[in-house]
Amino acid sequence: MVSPVSTGAVGFAPLAPPTVWQGWDAFVHRAPASARDVTDGAWSQAEREDYHSELAVMRTPAMGSVFTAVRRLLLLLNRRQQAGARSGLIISGPATTGKTTTMMALGRSFQLADARQRPGQAERRPVLFISVPPTATPKMLVSEFARFLGMPITDRLNQTQITGAVCDLLCELGTQLVLIDDVHLLDTQRRAGAETSDQLKHFGERIPATFVYSAIDVETSSLLSGVRGAQIAGRFKIFRHRPLAYATEQDRSV
Ligand SMILES: Nc1ncnc2c1ncn2[C@@H]1O[C@H](COP(=O)(O)OP(=O)(O)OP(=O)(O)O)[C@@H](O)[C@H]1O
Ligand SMILES: [Mg+2]
Repeated sequence: MVSPVSTGAVGFAPLAPPTVWQGWDAFVHRAPASARDVTDGAWSQAEREDYHSELAVMRTPAMGSVFTAVRRLLLLLNRRQQAGARSGLIISGPATTGKTTTMMALGRSFQLADARQRPGQAERRPVLFISVPPTATPKMLVSEFARFLGMPITDRLNQTQITGAVCDLLCELGTQLVLIDDVHLLDTQRRAGAETSDQLKHFGERIPATFVYSAIDVETSSLLSGVRGAQIAGRFKIFRHRPLAYATEQDRSV
């Protein structure tokens, strides 16, 4: 039998998801819990479970490569570009190889650097992190942007109005890095998926930010095929995210 866990009883509040600003900002500033001696009697069962529920994230070689590629894009490509969609990066690889973890580590590192460069600007939102919902439509996608920013959306607003408001707000808040997870869920063979990928391109044109997508094996997905796909392929560098190998001495040394 599985008994329900009472988080209130042990004092651990559930974490807000990173796809809303409060959850994202908490993730960025949360220091990793340090492991304590297993024989430490003062380390309660609840604290042990809490520690194991969020394991430490290793800095992998893939992270180093992605950080460097994005830093280059931010510095060289986007600085003076006025018109047209900006260039970005797609982190592509097999399932569960750490693509989301790499992407979140990138956003975290970028936001901490931004805070060091511009202290005391708590209203800034240098990074936006969202995930593509399954069977997304353009309105669902823009609603994810709005949800991250905490923008109220009323039924009276149509998709164009919400999109305009989101883009204006992102420019105002100084967003420079837009992270979109799971873009392989956009099936561009279907009308809704194709329209949503068009909307992603529109965001790229309206928001002066670098875009980083993550996707399962994007090279073989419908996202990069056809005319629309060619537009994305032409604007995005693809980074191949491989499983972290640990078999050989050389693997273990990196
Ligand atoms: N650098 C890392 N250090 C520690 N754990 C990691 C690291 N990268 C990934 N993991 C762990 O591996 C698992 C899968 O990672 P993640 O969800 O980032 O993969 P993914 O490629 O985004 O998966 P999916 O294809 O399902 O979206 C998670 O439990 C995560 O905590
Ligand atoms: Mg993922």
